[in-house]
Amino acid sequence: MSDRVLVFDTTLRDGEQSPGVRLSVAEKLEVGHQLVKLGVDIIEAGFPISSPGDFESVNTLAKNLKGVTICGLTRAREKDIDVAAEALKPAERGRIHTGLGVSENHLQHKLRMSKDEALETGVKAVKHAKKYTDDIEYFMEDSGRADPEYVFRVVEAVIAAGATTINVPDTTGYATPAEYENLIRNIIHNVPNSDKAVFSCHCHDDLGMATANTLGGVLGGARQVEVTINGIGERAGNTSLEEVVMALRIRNDFYKVDTNIDAHDLLRISRMVSRLTGMVVQRNKAVVGANAYAHSSGIHQDGVLKERSTYEIIDPLMVGAEKSEIILTARSGRHGLKHRLAEMGFNFPEGRFEQIYEDFLKVADTKKEVDEDDLRLLVTH
Ligand code: KIV
Ligand code: ZN
Repeated sequence: MSDRVLVFDTTLRDGEQSPGVRLSVAEKLEVGHQLVKLGVDIIEAGFPISSPGDFESVNTLAKNLKGVTICGLTRAREKDIDVAAEALKPAERGRIHTGLGVSENHLQHKLRMSKDEALETGVKAVKHAKKYTDDIEYFMEDSGRADPEYVFRVVEAVIAAGATTINVPDTTGYATPAEYENLIRNIIHNVPNSDKAVFSCHCHDDLGMATANTLGGVLGGARQVEVTINGIGERAGNTSLEEVVMALRIRNDFYKVDTNIDAHDLLRISRMVSRLTGMVVQRNKAVVGANAYAHSSGIHQDGVLKERSTYEIIDPLMVGAEKSEIILTARSGRHGLKHRLAEMGFNFPEGRFEQIYEDFLKVADTKKEVDEDDLRLLVTH
């Protein structure tokens, strides 16, 4: 099994489905260029039949982005596939992503089809898409709540029809990491032609388990992850690209697989997507949050100032952040204060420093954070 995990970025499709988010074609192209620079393997640029704007986005990215596969989403309908194929025509490498639901819930309430009807519809869609490209990804919506035996049948049939990537979405964020890992492992083990396809994790974050589930899927044998920048997406969002990429890199000793992502660009693209979508990144967000490399308690500051790795498992330089930050609060100690004063060019004899430290604590008790202006006032009176 390959030790390379493909990164399928769906910020511009599933991510853009976040309530309140709308990106123009130009904005999507701007993000697309950054995604190429970041090193993603596949960009899902939109759902071409859904609107003229989405058609244009997919078509524009297909025309302008090189060295990456551009993907368009479709339902398992001929018309959707024809429109996606048209939008993808100029792509250096184009992928059609088609499929439909597999859970009892979706079959009964949404699709109103029997299992056999849905399977036949999916197979027909793959055969139709095959007229346009060999690169066909098949999604089985709501796999996380589906009967595995039916999932095995669907996978075998759509691979036989020509699908080359099989997407196993936990659409509702229902699965646990162990269940999702087993689902992927069991599909690969039980489907006779599973060696003809790459298996892909597509997880949602309704229970806050999207990253853990995706990593579970990788352990189970998936070699593609479907992710968004900052984890944006429907409801609680999708799996966050930066979390999966850094987990695989920092814990390579455990996962033993890696992606092609240049992590130095992670913070830059996170900020760009946040600015363009208006989706604020929570301060304590893993990898790219404003507090991810900030230390405010005296015990932690003392450790980090002696040796960064005492409290940081990621070197901030690795993701494009400037450096670890020492934030002065009422919980900070002498070492942190001395360090910040030295950064500002101040160095005091012990007696004077003790006085400043006492004054600092008084100010700190009245504020969330003691900033440089406060420090300047403290040392000049
Ligand atoms: O969550 C999901 O099931 C999806 C599919 C359309 C791939 O986004
Ligand atoms: Zn999704």
